[in-house]
Amino acid sequence: MRNTFYLNLESADNLGIGLFKYSLYPKERFIIVNSCLPKMLNYSSKEEFKKIKFANLFFDPKDNIKFLNILKEQKNVRFFEAVFKNKKYNKPVWVAITASYILTKKKEYIEGIIEDVSHHKEIEEKLFLERDFLQSLLDNIPDAVYFKDRHNRIIKVNRFYAEGAGLKPEEIIGKTDFDFFPYEQAKQMFEDDNYVLNTGRPIIGKIERTLLRNGTWNQVITTKIPIYDRRGKIIGTMGITRDMTAYANLEKERLNMLINALTVLNKALEMRDPYTSLHTQNVAFIATKIAESLGWKDNRLLAMKLAGELHDLGKISIPLEILNKPGKLTDLEYSLIQQHVQNCYELIKDIEFPFSLAEIIYQHHERLDGSGYPRHLKEEEILPEARILAISDVLESMTSYRPYREALGLEMALKELTEGRGIKYDSKIVDIIFVLIQDNHGKAFWLNY
Ligand SMILES: [Fe+2]
Ligand SMILES: [Fe+2]
Repeated sequence: MRNTFYLNLESADNLGIGLFKYSLYPKERFIIVNSCLPKMLNYSSKEEFKKIKFANLFFDPKDNIKFLNILKEQKNVRFFEAVFKNKKYNKPVWVAITASYILTKKKEYIEGIIEDVSHHKEIEEKLFLERDFLQSLLDNIPDAVYFKDRHNRIIKVNRFYAEGAGLKPEEIIGKTDFDFFPYEQAKQMFEDDNYVLNTGRPIIGKIERTLLRNGTWNQVITTKIPIYDRRGKIIGTMGITRDMTAYANLEKERLNMLINALTVLNKALEMRDPYTSLHTQNVAFIATKIAESLGWKDNRLLAMKLAGELHDLGKISIPLEILNKPGKLTDLEYSLIQQHVQNCYELIKDIEFPFSLAEIIYQHHERLDGSGYPRHLKEEEILPEARILAISDVLESMTSYRPYREALGLEMALKELTEGRGIKYDSKIVDIIFVLIQDNHGKAFWLNY
């Protein structure tokens, strides 16, 4: 059977599809046209439409040549997109031509359908525009942006991400974080992605450190959100990571300056009372060891070390005769000594630290049962850092010599901690002390550092 067009003219009209049969030889002319085609291009009648040549329908003559070339070569053309002239208005009409080429001994003609696809084209243009807009937005953001599927595979990254990784996007697509980061780090990222995928909740502004391919660490802030399909099902995650290294370094510098200034002040206290110097160094060492045993890191560890070093800074304003007085203190003298926590708090409370240093020090003489001072705080009211500091302070004081008394010894100190375990002192921290001493063959582990 000859490849001829059999669509019913009337139903094609209803569907808004133009039908035609056009003779190319011996005479160029439209033989058949349904009523839809003239309407589509704003001709008043079939007769008017039939007067024009097929080539003249094209807005760009090159499209006509291209169309005929393909048609003659392949005999059939499916959905050839071109712009046609609109008879009445200046606005061109996007059409799709599906046609067959028929060649007999004496005749040569085309028959086929023409559909108005302007509406689709408009949507397509809009989509392209939106896509281009999104892409240019993504590529110009100075943050790493990435999209992952439900299996945590990277499906899209922006330019900043690729440049930061030193790779081409195609070298990243389809991979996971395990391909680019150390195992522990990738595992954490994997868990975060899964949290977002499984709960639908975003992770906003998480600060983390990442190891770069060049071996340096950077500090980043990451936000991860779920991506949904049209039915509201989570199909992946999108993440934005901002490099905060420069800011973090600045903050570190500021912190170092603060610490240096406070260290100078602390030196003044140590010069005045050499016993305090060794005491604070030892307390800082013990407190840091406990914090390490608890798995604390970075700023929390630094807070513990600083709190240990500075916890008795408030003694700077207490007369030495009282501080080192042998024998029993009067009530007045004792209350003066107690003032050192308040003094220290007042000294540093307005300094901006990334941790509550003033409050930790303020609480270092508090006890879990409320028997401490100055505010008689209890249990959860006392910061974990202050509980560590309290135990480190007692341990160091009792095991070292003071001008007003001999050292009481490790045994006595441990007896005090055991008796007060879970009452005055945090039992978990007391237990850590015993482990640390045991690991040091039963000796004070802070004396040989
Ligand atoms: Fe103290
Ligand atoms: Fe102390």
